[in-house]
Amino acid sequence: MPITAARSAHSAASTTDLAAAVRAAVGAGGSASGVAARVATALARHLPAPAQLLTGPQLAGDPAGYQTHPVHVEPDGSFSIAVMVWRPGQVTPIHDHVSWCVTGVLQGVEYEEIFSLGLDGSTLTELVRRENPPGTVAGFAPPGDIHRVRNCGDGVAVSMHVYGADLARLGSSIRRVYDLPVQRQLTGPR
Ligand SMILES: [Fe+2]
Repeated sequence: MPITAARSAHSAASTTDLAAAVRAAVGAGGSASGVAARVATALARHLPAPAQLLTGPQLAGDPAGYQTHPVHVEPDGSFSIAVMVWRPGQVTPIHDHVSWCVTGVLQGVEYEEIFSLGLDGSTLTELVRRENPPGTVAGFAPPGDIHRVRNCGDGVAVSMHVYGADLARLGSSIRRVYDLPVQRQLTGPR
């Protein structure tokens, strides 16, 4: 279920500080949506600047497609933190996730579309479309997390993603890619 987004200015927090805050949020237990809400609060308080996380060449992006750079995998596999870099026009497939996820936009604007799957599983309907400017932090937990993210801006976009999963073991947090027709689309930026 989606969780109300919060906004935060960048701070000088390090990945170590962020990992400690996420560890405490995850360790408190409870439902996946409750954990995601606490992790969102932790991320909003510890949102690093892009240059604290990645090198210049990494922050330039890759013309081949958006890039995912893992920056922390918790030793017990309970969560992972990754930074994604998007050049203008780059877009994910429509997908959902194996676990709760919390995102924070560090640079640029990310555009997100959220979909529902039809009862017969053959079509998608777009439910929500939104722009997430720098400082936007949002969390969600499956089900209801079918979405697509793209960079419609003129510059490189950078965002931070915390997943309740072991990216070192799984390689990706994506549960399924939905290569299906979209029955109804909203209007707005995309
Ligand atoms: Fe996603």
